[in-house]
Amino acid sequence: MSDTERELGMGLDIGTSRIVLARRVQGKFDFQAQLNAFVTIPFSKLTHKVLKKEGVPHKVRGGEIVIYGNESPRFAELFHVETRRPMLNGVVNPGEPDSLELIRHIVTILVGGEHKLGCKLCYSLPAPRLDACEDRQYHDAAVRQLLSEFGFELRSIDEGLAVVFGELEASNYTGVGISFGGGMCNVCLAYLSIPVVSFSLPKAGDYVDASAAAATGEVATRVRGLKEQSFALNGKVPDKIQRALTVYYGDMMRSLVGAMREAFSETRRLPKLDRPVPIVLSGGSALPEGFREHFESLLKDGEFPIAVSEVTLAPEPLNSTAKGALMAALTDM
Ligand SMILES: Nc1ncnc2c1ncn2[C@@H]1O[C@H](COP(=O)(O)OP(=O)(O)OP(=O)(O)O)[C@@H](O)[C@H]1O
Ligand SMILES: [Mg+2]
Repeated sequence: MSDTERELGMGLDIGTSRIVLARRVQGKFDFQAQLNAFVTIPFSKLTHKVLKKEGVPHKVRGGEIVIYGNESPRFAELFHVETRRPMLNGVVNPGEPDSLELIRHIVTILVGGEHKLGCKLCYSLPAPRLDACEDRQYHDAAVRQLLSEFGFELRSIDEGLAVVFGELEASNYTGVGISFGGGMCNVCLAYLSIPVVSFSLPKAGDYVDASAAAATGEVATRVRGLKEQSFALNGKVPDKIQRALTVYYGDMMRSLVGAMREAFSETRRLPKLDRPVPIVLSGGSALPEGFREHFESLLKDGEFPIAVSEVTLAPEPLNSTAKGALMAALTDM
């Protein structure tokens, strides 16, 4: 890392499904991502030696080898095992005892192992849940501790606000940023860069995969693969998996629009918006063809508490949160 980069800072999106690092390199945005996943395979000296030689990120734990990051699906397929996740529904997975250590290893692949003294890093956190079922305090504290050990100067940002920072410069950071992720959806209504309403909903891509898998007798990994390769929200349902995906995508999107209606109409702090505001959609679950149009039609299907000027899809939906976190690090730390 050069001194310039050190001064400029970094944005880190710690997502349930992927961890994304954003930086400015030679005046341009640079994004690097790793899957927030791992697999374990049986230990053998030979395998260990080959993995080292091939530069596959891994560690030895007891009688097994843990492979983490982007390489994990390849080894899951080879060894017929499921990939596992250090995070669940947007926060540290309580069912995986080594989750924090694995997140640290994956972050190290992205930021490098050297000490980051003097480097600013802004990282994303899920917003509080609307149902007030609070499970993020431990996550917040644990992630901050983990990142502080690298030596970074730290700041956190709610994921929805990061989307506003990343994508709504044209409206002076006034509008609604939404991230449709793997573990959760995050929403933020901001006025001139100030977050007014921010919340999360633990129903997103993983929920769609698990529900469509249960309904069709498939495994979630296969459903997820099909969804990412060929699913579209265009009314066509060529098979039962696509039909189930359509049903649960609709469920997720309706739940989110319902939650927005509730959150935006209840708040007393809502500023008098003098003009309609834009909504920007981001996150991996916003990628299927027809998603934006379907979302817009759900919004129009009934009263909505705020006037909306337009609904757009972020140009790079998978990078919006990291980009916004970087913007916060560059301009606000
Ligand atoms: N082409 C695609 N079509 C549909 N879904 C996709 C596509 N690509 C990725 N996804 C889904 O997007 C989700 C991951 O999105 P993203 O990387 O934004 O989440 P995350 O930030 O890791 O999670 P979270 O914000 O919930 O903690 C997964 O459910 C994945 O299956
Ligand atoms: Mg996310």
